[in-house]
Amino acid sequence: MRWQKKDLLGLENITAEEINLVMDTAVPMKDIILRDIKKVPTLRGRSVINLFYEPSTRTRTSFELAGKYMSADTVNIAASGSSVSKGESLKDTVKTIEVMGADVVIIRHGMAGAAKILAETVSSHVINAGDGTHEHPTQALLDMFTIREERGHIKGLTITIVGDILHSRVARSNIWGLTKMGARVRLAGPPTLIPPGVETMGVEVYHNLDEALPGSDVIMALRIQQERQQTGLFPSLREYARLYGINSQRLAMAKEQCLLLHPGPINRGVELTGQVADGVQAMINKQVTNGVAVRMALLFLLMGGGKGEITN
Ligand code: CP
Repeated sequence: MRWQKKDLLGLENITAEEINLVMDTAVPMKDIILRDIKKVPTLRGRSVINLFYEPSTRTRTSFELAGKYMSADTVNIAASGSSVSKGESLKDTVKTIEVMGADVVIIRHGMAGAAKILAETVSSHVINAGDGTHEHPTQALLDMFTIREERGHIKGLTITIVGDILHSRVARSNIWGLTKMGARVRLAGPPTLIPPGVETMGVEVYHNLDEALPGSDVIMALRIQQERQQTGLFPSLREYARLYGINSQRLAMAKEQCLLLHPGPINRGVELTGQVADGVQAMINKQVTNGVAVRMALLFLLMGGGKGEITN
């Protein structure tokens, strides 16, 4: 199977076959990043632009490394240091980048739908690196890759996503992706942080986390997004941690050797105790490594992967 789409805007309109193609392609990519010399000529002569209107450590750096490991020319543009701060519109900025010869533009923006608007504006490939509360597809792909790597499959697993579902683009992309891959998805969080009607996406909703955990193969804890929240959605961080934080006792309520995922950055002592965040069941560092592999796979596939070799 070949990748056919110009852009990756979300997982809502991606098939299970396409998700499997990305994950299968990420396997040899991971071999490359585990070598001493992490360089293949696959994307030599291609250019990748990271355009980030919101802060990022993991996503921006892993896309930059992904491009560099495959010999693409990669450039980072942060809104604060660019002509965006002089009032240039998003469309004009991206058009400018396109006419400089960008093959791929990776965008993170606070507005839901920003990546889609750009994809319709420019002929460059566009990858959504997070658009408001809408989607963060590459995070969900690396999460699924990590689960598949650890368990060998996703179909039939019970995955509990806990926390601020309402504001979480990570949760939305994972719900689309995991349900397409045949997982059973449970959402747990306070009623104020669960979107009304989310059950129509094929998930089960729990307000009591302790009822959601038994039988879970994977727990995915989400970051409390204080920057996107109005006040009053839960009484205090301390109260949130008491009711929805993952600690050793809660981890033990799930299946034995249950995987613990978190997209990062972590608020230690809120979503996870330090003990579980640094424990053997935590996949957090593995997720970050796998993020580079999955993003290498996506750059390869979007820029005509399959026509050439991955390695030399
Ligand atoms: N998980 C994630 O998107 O992290 P960054 O904000 O650091 O990119």
